[in-house]
Amino acid sequence: MSVLDANIESVIITADQIREKIAELAARIDADYADREVLLVGVLKGAAMFMSDLARALQRPSTMEFMAVSSYGSSHRTSGVVRILKDLDRDISGEHVLVVEDIIDSGLTLSWLLKNLQSRGPASMEIITLLRKAGAAKVRVDVRYVGFEIPNAFVVGYGLDYAEQYRGLPYIGILKSSVYGG
Ligand code: IMP
Repeated sequence: MSVLDANIESVIITADQIREKIAELAARIDADYADREVLLVGVLKGAAMFMSDLARALQRPSTMEFMAVSSYGSSHRTSGVVRILKDLDRDISGEHVLVVEDIIDSGLTLSWLLKNLQSRGPASMEIITLLRKAGAAKVRVDVRYVGFEIPNAFVVGYGLDYAEQYRGLPYIGILKSSVYGG
């Protein structure tokens, strides 16, 4: 057990469950995009692990772009304020964009991002998220692919952080509230 594992209250999704779910999602995407090439737009940094495993699981050709936005800072509560920290490297007009998210909590970050990307004229735009918190949404966002619905707790691992830590854990776990003084 590592020093990071010791701060985890409970593992809610194991590495095997993540692997199986990604294979399932990739098969659906391959079928849905059989006649189109998909452009995966990963939202850094949380979606980095999911994006790379998803891209490897797809059988059909795809391309990748990354964007970094900030809505959290180092605290565990959303601020609702979104800033672009890194923009896409290229024009996405006419592309079939699939936005790859790690987690949807209030949905504020994503709805802001979608409006921003939509204004760039993609041919289509859909969303895939590995995790969605049940009942937490403040804004309704249509999400085409959802990996797991999870309880409304603060989770880390597999890309998700608390104060930039825990992203490397291979599973998703609930952080002990003593870690953030909650
Ligand atoms: P939203 O705008 O409230 O939907 O928050 C979206 C972003 O907040 C995600 O992309 C994550 O970066 C972060 N976030 C939300 N919930 C969690 C969590 O439980 N653990 C780690 N990061 C989270």
